Amino acid sequence: MRSSSKYEEQLSTFSKNSRVVLVTGGAGFIGSHTVLVLLEQGYQVVVLDNLSNGSYEALTRVEKLVGKRLSFVKGDVRDQSLVTSIINKYKISDVLHFAGLKAVAESTLNPLQYYSVNIEGSLALLQAMVENSVKRFIFSSSATVYGENAKIPYREDSSRGTPSSPYGKSKAAVEQILEDLAQADDSWQICCLRYFNPIGAHNSGLIGEDPEGVPNNLLPYISHVAAGRYSKLNIFGGDYKTPDGTCRRDYVHVMDLAEGHVAALQNLVAGFDVINLGTGVPVSVREMVAAYEAVCGKEIAFEIAPQRAGDLPEFWSDCAKAKQKLSWEAVRSLKEMVEDTWQWQTKNPLGYHNEE
Ligand code: NAD
Ligand code: UFG
Repeated sequence: MRSSSKYEEQLSTFSKNSRVVLVTGGAGFIGSHTVLVLLEQGYQVVVLDNLSNGSYEALTRVEKLVGKRLSFVKGDVRDQSLVTSIINKYKISDVLHFAGLKAVAESTLNPLQYYSVNIEGSLALLQAMVENSVKRFIFSSSATVYGENAKIPYREDSSRGTPSSPYGKSKAAVEQILEDLAQADDSWQICCLRYFNPIGAHNSGLIGEDPEGVPNNLLPYISHVAAGRYSKLNIFGGDYKTPDGTCRRDYVHVMDLAEGHVAALQNLVAGFDVINLGTGVPVSVREMVAAYEAVCGKEIAFEIAPQRAGDLPEFWSDCAKAKQKLSWEAVRSLKEMVEDTWQWQTKNPLGYHNEE
């Protein structure tokens, strides 16, 4: 994989018989791990990413780990003519759409940017697919689409709620667009995967989560405390009506998620579907801190801070549908999630910037 002048792209030699998957946002956290599993499973992969929050280095490492090549195009998913040219050039058969913005708080400050990237980006991609009669699509959705009042554990047969943030609303809107599209044209095969809380890293320690700036999410923040970059963790709220007063979430290993995408691709059928990807097991913030301390052998200093606006006290998945429809279930334990996160942190204290 090297960069060329126009789009920093390079065509790998594709085997004629295998499927060619376009992975938008493939240089990001979940996308890069999924690209790795796709390559391992024999798919040909083309990544489209504008590198606004992803890393070219992640893809270089994926290639080294798997011993296979992929193709990379640097560009914006909202550029419909670029997407059309990629679909034609690489003879794309399937699309996994990860590209998007994901910081919940930032989305409340800059909703137009979030609606533009997450909704316009999806529309441009889908329009390019229609032009080229490519109709197999997997979308990165989120547990946030269940909204604030859904019954716990979240089940796919409960209707979409109203998420509190523009980020969540953008995910719910794209799900609705996809549902309408499948309703209008029954040759589409569409699956929305609703992720719970992805954490962890590949067990080589070579690829992982590399957020820009101060992390918003719990695990990257704890990692920075453990590594000594921050003095303490602020636990947002200690007075929730949960067993220990802190929020509970369904944390799922990013490699389980990656394998879930390949299972979804292999089981994609006509119509529109939504499937939860989680473990079904709630873990509190305090439990996560204790798990991290056990793995890294250090104390994680913390302080109970005020609740964070928009946080729900607790939610987790009912994961029966994924098992039934995809023969997939999360298999990696909380200990493995934390061990792999810590290994990634210790091997890459500055994330991918070590070598960039
Ligand atoms: P990430 O930020 O690591 O990856 C997203 C990738 O998309 C990045 O590489 C970024 O450079 C790229 N990108 C952003 N805007 C783009 C654009 N306009 N054109 C092309 N590429 C663009 O995030 P992630 O954690 O890997 O999440 C992947 C997807 O899963 C996102 O859609 C996110 O909303 C969704 N999701 C994430 C979580 C989570 O907690 N990580 C939870 C639920 C859903
Ligand atoms: N938390 C802290 N301190 C921190 C960071 C987080 O106490 O410094 C707590 C939060 O209050 C929450 C828990 O840790 O209780 C998890 O927070 P994250 O920010 O890691 O994850 P969220 O559950 O808020 O958000 C995730 C995804 C979003 C998605 C949302 C709902 O990151 O994409 O779940 O599905 F929208």
